Amino acid sequence: MPGHKLGRGIPAEFQLNPTMLDLTEIPGMDDLHFPKEAIRDAQELAAKAFGAQKTYFLVNGSTCGIHASILAVCRPGDKLIVSRDSHKSVITGMMLAGVSPIYIKPHFEKQFEISGIAETDEIEKALRENSDAVGVLITRPNYYGICADLQSIVDITHSYGKIVIVDEAHGAHLHFNKSLPESAMKAGADISIQSAHKTLPAFTQGAYLHINPGRIDLDRLEFYLSSIQTSSPSYIIMTYLDIARAIMEKDGKRLLDTLLESIDWFKDSMRNAEGISVLSEKLIMMGKLDKTRLVINTKNIGKTGFEVERILRQEHNIQVEMSDINNIVCIATVADTKKDFESLSFAVNKLASRFKGLPPLADIMVRDMVIPKQGAALNEIRHGKAFKLKFKESCGRTSMSIITPYPPGIPAICPGEVISQDAIEYVNSIIALGGKVTGLSGDGEISIVL
Ligand SMILES: Cc1ncc(COP(=O)(O)O)c(C=O)c1O
Repeated sequence: MPGHKLGRGIPAEFQLNPTMLDLTEIPGMDDLHFPKEAIRDAQELAAKAFGAQKTYFLVNGSTCGIHASILAVCRPGDKLIVSRDSHKSVITGMMLAGVSPIYIKPHFEKQFEISGIAETDEIEKALRENSDAVGVLITRPNYYGICADLQSIVDITHSYGKIVIVDEAHGAHLHFNKSLPESAMKAGADISIQSAHKTLPAFTQGAYLHINPGRIDLDRLEFYLSSIQTSSPSYIIMTYLDIARAIMEKDGKRLLDTLLESIDWFKDSMRNAEGISVLSEKLIMMGKLDKTRLVINTKNIGKTGFEVERILRQEHNIQVEMSDINNIVCIATVADTKKDFESLSFAVNKLASRFKGLPPLADIMVRDMVIPKQGAALNEIRHGKAFKLKFKESCGRTSMSIITPYPPGIPAICPGEVISQDAIEYVNSIIALGGKVTGLSGDGEISIVL
């Protein structure tokens, strides 16, 4: 990302000079916070194109849409059922709103050692046990393109009279091709938040928030969207949200068909790459797969995803989206061409022959997600005091920090959770292997609840 891939996904007629778009709320330019003219029209066109009752343009990424959604739906002290593989914006949103999370542990996909779907049965159990919860927030697709069975989650959650919010940051393209898993709006979710900039030809920070009718108080939502977003929204970002909509509405199906053909070709070209496997729906135990997300497992060529990412960049001029210990992950969008897949295929095949015969990576490094013990409620600690402590000495303490290993950007320790020795070792192993961790100071310190 960004999904326009250096502008290649944007047709010539939409290659506009950004300095000529960078305007403000002068007459004729409308106002994102009180839209009555062009922005209202553009949002209405987006709602129609994405199958929503109403769509809001976001200029601060999915992050602000997630924050506003949680603030609009929950009141301090409310419970929200949340899949624990959430992005940190979900955790910070709950903290801002003073919400108590009921975490669901997602299924673990053993073969690729990655996080899988939030299971409907687990969500139903949480709904049964927490009749006072306001609703369910799940991430779908996850970073690896794996999609939970949203239709059944929506049906069950609605049967309990609760709200479904979908962090669809990685799924803005899903609506435009029937070979892909259905979009959150199609499945009947109440709110979906999509990072247009990740999978569509839109600019960084551009995102949409879509609504299905009935359960959401739009006045409250609009109040929070307006409070959280800048009073000087970028017309460059908004213009390209409109342009991305126009491209996908007019041509999305054909462009995605072509992309899926190239991806099929790529997967086929990996057949003889010894030690390499590419994630497919057949290889996951549960859920559906967004086929545009390429997850390439490198464990059996004896190289971590981090090392392969570095080699691809330095030796082949290919930048992947992310890597983890065993995999590299590429976001493919309608801006990618067959030539891009040929380059990737050439490079990965070359790696496979170069490292042939190396022993596979040991199994020791990846673990199933462990949900830490809750030491204090988010609502209690959000105004509380904290002190710093060396992370390696913090076992047994309650964290005030969000410790997020990248990839994949899913917090290993959230505020209010008790830090275990296992979590310390897991985070340190990611650092040692070349991953990045946010939430620790430069001196390796963590904030602890006083
Ligand atoms: C699952 C998920 N949700 C939300 C976000 C936040 O999106 P944005 O960067 O558009 O604010 C991300 C960003 O990586 C993400 O991966």
